[in-house]
Amino acid sequence: MSKPAAQTVTITLDGTDRSATLPVIPGTLGPSVIDIRRLYQDLGMFTYDPGYGATAACESTITYIDGDQGILLHRGYPIEQLAEQCTFLEVAHLLLYGELPTKAQYEAFARTITRHTMIHEQLRRFFDGFRRDAHPMAVLTGVVGAMSAFYPDSSDVNDPHQREISAHRLIAKLPTIAAWAYKYSVGQPFMYPRNDLGYAENFLYMLNAVPTEPYVVNPVLARAMDRILILHADHEQNASTSTVRLAGSTGANPFACVAAGIATLWGPAHGGANEAVLKMLAEIGSVDRIPDFIAKVKDKNSNVRLMGFGHRVYKNYDPRAKIMARTCHEVLADLGIEHEPLLEIAMELERIALSDEYFISRKLYPNVDFYSGIILKAMGLPTSMFTALFAVARTVGWISQWKEMIEDPSQRIGRPRQVYTGAGQRDVVPLSERG
Ligand code: ACO
Repeated sequence: MSKPAAQTVTITLDGTDRSATLPVIPGTLGPSVIDIRRLYQDLGMFTYDPGYGATAACESTITYIDGDQGILLHRGYPIEQLAEQCTFLEVAHLLLYGELPTKAQYEAFARTITRHTMIHEQLRRFFDGFRRDAHPMAVLTGVVGAMSAFYPDSSDVNDPHQREISAHRLIAKLPTIAAWAYKYSVGQPFMYPRNDLGYAENFLYMLNAVPTEPYVVNPVLARAMDRILILHADHEQNASTSTVRLAGSTGANPFACVAAGIATLWGPAHGGANEAVLKMLAEIGSVDRIPDFIAKVKDKNSNVRLMGFGHRVYKNYDPRAKIMARTCHEVLADLGIEHEPLLEIAMELERIALSDEYFISRKLYPNVDFYSGIILKAMGLPTSMFTALFAVARTVGWISQWKEMIEDPSQRIGRPRQVYTGAGQRDVVPLSERG
């Protein structure tokens, strides 16, 4: 819970004696917030903040971002340390339970997640209902939404034990559902999860293995996949997480809420950006065409954006992008890819953008998606799977934030207000009299 208000802010309506004195709530780190809950009662007004750029919608202890400094902490731990020293399941435990696990806790958590990786055999038939060329995000949204029909026993949001089981089910089953969405699109048999493999290894296995021959997971790729999952695990109150919280505030079951999060993540301004980056790099095609492309990005009439650049919160280098760039070089080196034209274009694009006044003055830096697509392409994943992989990783963030919201005693149904600018009240003219 937040500390009690130490300060207040008083707002006075010009030319009147009406004012509101509002408490200021300090956080552990970062800016304090003004508690405006009494504003309407005292002043008869709401606040206006399209895109919620200046609005704290909840209290949270999970993730802290300092966008100006390029800092990302999960439960206080810097993302760089988590990505270097921990596995994805350690980070998942941290997000869900608040602490990094002890060895015994880790083993128990990994065992639980591993044992929940299979999906209901009947749910498997859902895949057959989709067209083969369906986007994996469409399949993911549908199948995850359908989970509530298969696991109604863990849909009681008021029972802490059931909440925990649904969290485990989601974290464990998302890789299976995502991998099967891919297998379905290429017409290959679904590979059942293997309990002897780690989380990232098993995901790679289900994506790439075929029943006709043994498949050995490359440890460098498994580590890179694990790191990509860590880097995408949570990111505070972004659009998809806010969607999950908003859906969850109605008491909707966690599977429905996460399906809503997946649908939101799909947008190109959010999780769809890594797919968009690769398309953009392919369209540019060669390093000598970069100046023309940059000119188009700077032209206000073109509507072209440099995908993988810019962030609502980071006005400095996204700390995840640095780790992603390093991982990209490691993966390409391990795979013996000495000449990757897309990487060359990306590096040159980054170099030019970081020295260009347009990007400098707007504080536009590479975000997490700028390099992730190149790694995933090198791993053999089709671009349409990139956002699905992001959804696999973010599931733990969504469900941790959802759990935190349900357990918050001040939680209410999410219901923003508006400033109405439509027609004033008027009377209906009968159709026969309307000209
Ligand atoms: N390329 C070119 N110009 C840009 C870009 C970009 N990628 N991003 C922002 N700008 C410009 C805008 O045109 C605007 O310029 P102006 O002030 O002259 O009008 C200024 O920078 C501010 O941009 P906003 O759109 O107000 O910034 P906002 O915070 O709303 O947008 C966003 C953030 C959506 C991420 C934006 O930077 C963008 O579209 N980036 C490309 C898509 C992308 O990479 N998304 C991934 C985000 S990370 C994630 O979801 C994991």
